[in-house]
Amino acid sequence: MKLTNFVNGQWQQTEQAEFRPVLNPANGEELAQVRMSTEQDVDLAVQAALKAQKKWANVPAPKRAAYLYEIGRLMKERKEQLAQVLTKEMGKVIEEGRGEVQEGIDMAYYMAGEGRRLFGETTPSELADKFAMSIRSPIGVVGLITPWNFPVAIATWKSFPAIVAGNTFVWKPATETPMMAYEMAKIFEEAGLPEGVANIVFGSGQEVGTALIEHQGVRVISFTGSTETGRKVAEAGGRNLKKVSLEMGGKNAVIVMEDADLDLAVEGILWSAFGTAGQRCTACSRVIVHAGVKEELQKRLLSKMEALTIGDGMDESVKVGPVINRQALEKIHSYIEVGRQEGATLLVGGEILTGGIYDKGNYYAPTLFTDVKPDMRIAQEEIFGPVVSIIEVSSFEEAIDVNNGVIYGLSSSIYTADVNRAFKAQRDLDTGIVYINAGTTGAEIHLPFGGTKGTGNGHRDSGVAALDVFTEWKSVYIDYSGKLQRAQIDNDI
Ligand code: UN1
Repeated sequence: MKLTNFVNGQWQQTEQAEFRPVLNPANGEELAQVRMSTEQDVDLAVQAALKAQKKWANVPAPKRAAYLYEIGRLMKERKEQLAQVLTKEMGKVIEEGRGEVQEGIDMAYYMAGEGRRLFGETTPSELADKFAMSIRSPIGVVGLITPWNFPVAIATWKSFPAIVAGNTFVWKPATETPMMAYEMAKIFEEAGLPEGVANIVFGSGQEVGTALIEHQGVRVISFTGSTETGRKVAEAGGRNLKKVSLEMGGKNAVIVMEDADLDLAVEGILWSAFGTAGQRCTACSRVIVHAGVKEELQKRLLSKMEALTIGDGMDESVKVGPVINRQALEKIHSYIEVGRQEGATLLVGGEILTGGIYDKGNYYAPTLFTDVKPDMRIAQEEIFGPVVSIIEVSSFEEAIDVNNGVIYGLSSSIYTADVNRAFKAQRDLDTGIVYINAGTTGAEIHLPFGGTKGTGNGHRDSGVAALDVFTEWKSVYIDYSGKLQRAQIDNDI
């Protein structure tokens, strides 16, 4: 199958284009070929989106939302098929594939509901016989750049609020996971979304991403990916005076206090550290544990890790799937040497798995380091794989400081039975998402998603907050006094 761009409601011609294979990370099988587009392809898509936008902006918002209800319905109807495509191209286990598709369905229905809200504000004017209100206006054409680790959910976090608010979009999916974008394009087509509202251009960040960011017809860029790339996106966006919403790296921690329910904490750590093979921005990669329970926690964690089955995510009994590609595998593995050199103790894992199916795919053993100091590179840098560092602390305050002592600020978690500590933690943990007695993953679509410091630049995906990215506030004054009234002057306050 050759995946080509979806522009102006049409599948583009494929002659003379460059294609790249899409591989199943579980077994190396070629699933499809994806088009590597050029700057000209981006321009075509932006022109189509620009042409469609004015008309789309004037479609009543509840009508725009009706398309989203239909998109959600089609996704629901095809949930299993979509989940299977997702697992094959991305590698996450099928149960998580289903969960991710569900996240997209939830977003469709939630944002469709916004079509009958999109609330602005009315407020009294300081002058008599004058009315004031603020309304949300669409911005124009938005550019969406999405990662491979959540190939459908993150795309829905961005595209659905964008379209319900009256924008049109050009979406560049990750080159590793174009099949989900292809599936979504088919759904957009079947839902009858007017041509030019949704456009998809496949290709590299270097070529397609850059062209989108630099294109003068694109007013907003919403990006999820690495902090390194995000910085470049922000720089280019800044130069072009675009609104840029960034969702980047994490170095998320689970804090386990001495009064915690240890079995519950172990379950939370396992799920948030090794789910999606650790390839979530929200994944737990540090466990900050009170000295009093460190040995016991370590022991229980190790025994549960031994029971994790690693393999092809299509197999329902597998708990940890492959990582995305060879490059990722090698990057993860390089941190083992870094950790050893820094003096950390490797308790389990630390190897690329070999033999049988493992030779065909990209499998990494769930890994646990202990005796990790907060400033070691393995405790500071995002590894984006199934690698966890245990850091011992001797007080609640120290735990908070260690949690906050990284450049990132996406998610954090604390296990404690002390309600006062729980409340203090939610106040003091410097992350965009905080969990009490739950792991670091599991964000729900109707709450803002994003982080502080090196994780973001002040914007949020998901929730009503997403509408702030894709709308411009317009303040409207209606003077019905029939005379000139000067603000700040003609009042006697
Ligand atoms: C991501 O890793 O980029 O909270 C997104 C979670 C998921 C979303 C993760 N709902 O882990």
